[in-house]
Amino acid sequence: TDVNASPVSRAIPTLPDAQTVTSVRHYTDRLFAFRVTRPASLRFRSGEFVMIGLLGDNGKPLLRAYSIASPAWDDELEFYSIKVPDGPLTSRLQHIQPGDQIILRPKPVGTLVHDALLPGKRIYFFATGTGFAPFASLLREPQTFEDYDEIIITHTCREVAELTYGRELIEGLKADEMMIELLGEENLAKIKYYPTTTREESPKMGRITTLIENGELFADLGVPPLNPETDRAMVCGSLDFNKDIKALLEAAGLEEGANSDPKQFVIEKAFVG
Ligand code: A2P
Repeated sequence: TDVNASPVSRAIPTLPDAQTVTSVRHYTDRLFAFRVTRPASLRFRSGEFVMIGLLGDNGKPLLRAYSIASPAWDDELEFYSIKVPDGPLTSRLQHIQPGDQIILRPKPVGTLVHDALLPGKRIYFFATGTGFAPFASLLREPQTFEDYDEIIITHTCREVAELTYGRELIEGLKADEMMIELLGEENLAKIKYYPTTTREESPKMGRITTLIENGELFADLGVPPLNPETDRAMVCGSLDFNKDIKALLEAAGLEEGANSDPKQFVIEKAFVG
């Protein structure tokens, strides 16, 4: 018999858990963001991550953890990614175009969720590099504004251009009518954005850890030093960054929480390539 006559045997294998890319934007030669369709069944909490990827050369899925950068109410999913020239996944993922398919396992998990924190007055989001992604979700999440009077987002990158995704997102929030209607103008005014660079001249330079230690962060923002009674924090960056921030938060008397045991701060490692 002619196998080609059978539509089943001729079918090109489709990706498991395939989603379609809807838009891609490149920020620098190291950074890009993209949006994909959202599986109808996918429920997640703003701040969580999923496994996404492509089919590897061996025919097996090549997956990495990516924070969902879009909020839980959005009908698409957004991701913010580094491009590593010899990275098994990102060397290929950086070439995706609208209409392409990626693999997305619809099993969201993660610690950067409001449920893992005790009630407080002020929340700090501390990000470096692509660690901004979960906060791109949480900054568009109504609960963030219901839970806190003040929302401080710090983002430290090596170079100025690496701040663009975060800067445009925050400026966009405050200018977008739909976002103003959804989140409220007074609520959006709670956001204090504190971008810093370490290897290129900018208005504020230095590692955020240094700016915490020397008190500049608090002086610049006009807020009191870290206080476990009032302050909460979410942290997302490299392993070393997370370790150093954790030490500073603990020195100030804050304790690390979890979904099952909410406390004063939570930490997650950013996707690194
Ligand atoms: P620096 O340029 O001084 O290393 P990376 O691209 O290596 O992930 O770094 C992103 C940003 O985070 C850089 O500005 C970098 O500063 C900063 N950074 C890296 N490690 C730490 C750390 N342990 N504590 C504070 N900031 C850090």
